[in-house]
Amino acid sequence: MELIPRLDARRSQRLQGKERAISDAILKAEVMRRKWYHRLDLGNGVVTPGLKWEELWNNTRQIRGGIDYINKTVLDLGSWDGMWAFEAEALGASIVVASDCINHWHFPWHQGMGNQLLVREALYSDIIPMWNVPPTNLRHRLDVMLPSHPGLKRGFDIVQHLGLLYHLRDPMLSLAQARAVLRDGGTLLLETAVHRLDTASAMHFNSGGKAIYDDFTTWWAPSLPCLREMLGASLFTVVKERLSYVSDASPICRAAVQATAVAPRDVVGERYNLDPGLGHGFGDHLIGRLPYNDPQSPNSLEAYYDQRFPAHLRERPEPEA
Ligand SMILES: C[S@@+](CC[C@H](N)C(=O)[O-])C[C@H]1O[C@@H](n2cnc3c(N)ncnc32)[C@H](O)[C@@H]1O
Repeated sequence: MELIPRLDARRSQRLQGKERAISDAILKAEVMRRKWYHRLDLGNGVVTPGLKWEELWNNTRQIRGGIDYINKTVLDLGSWDGMWAFEAEALGASIVVASDCINHWHFPWHQGMGNQLLVREALYSDIIPMWNVPPTNLRHRLDVMLPSHPGLKRGFDIVQHLGLLYHLRDPMLSLAQARAVLRDGGTLLLETAVHRLDTASAMHFNSGGKAIYDDFTTWWAPSLPCLREMLGASLFTVVKERLSYVSDASPICRAAVQATAVAPRDVVGERYNLDPGLGHGFGDHLIGRLPYNDPQSPNSLEAYYDQRFPAHLRERPEPEA
């Protein structure tokens, strides 16, 4: 399998000879009028002039190589021009939903999802662009569509959370929300900035948009142990990880991670973590899957409190006569 799947298979099937030549010329002119983030090869030499970030993107593709996309349902977050959504479709996904929420009034060089819509038409793609869906509010915003398709009822098979975590003020909230729209056993493909020199579990704050590196859109860079633990605390287990952009010039590099969504577990603390009333961001359907606490069980909350607050801490001394 090629690292980058071919995107223009349907275009080549549907358009041939003169028709294709004319359509390519029109497409190329439109492509060149716009600003692009992703470099997308639309066939016959029509390539969107995006950034040259192949090292970063190929690192994610290396991790993605271990994931089966055939007939899978995929949610692509922060999709922008849609490279990862179109590639998911080309890899055989049956449903691809692509979401984003930034527009040109936030950043003049951002085309919203406009470029993605152009490419969708050009490729005869079936991806479903969903505009204005923030990664911190997925469950609520997607609840209108998830129950409407048998393939989505239990959640997506794959969530692509790429180049996004460090942009978010509340990264844990977005991980909980990603978990809340994945089925148990589903796959998270994550790519983010990490602090590679810190071996402790620590989150580095990009204070003033400058402390870690000069980028006002970056809030955080976790150390690798911290990223793993954040995923663990969000009902994921890490399967594989791979670094890119490792350089002596900076403590920050990038990590691509494959993680599996684990089912809510009957362990002390999970009900607290999943409680929608406490604002941890898992939505309100995961908690309903936990069995109620059995006071007789050695794993019960009663046993936990007896151990955590032994009798001598709870008993008030008798007042002296
Ligand atoms: C670095 S680009 C990554 C694009 C694509 N996912 C990739 O990995 O190639 C960041 C994406 O996240 C979105 N984004 C940036 N800041 C965000 C924020 N605070 N909340 C939600 N989305 C944000 C942008 O619209 C953009 O699509």
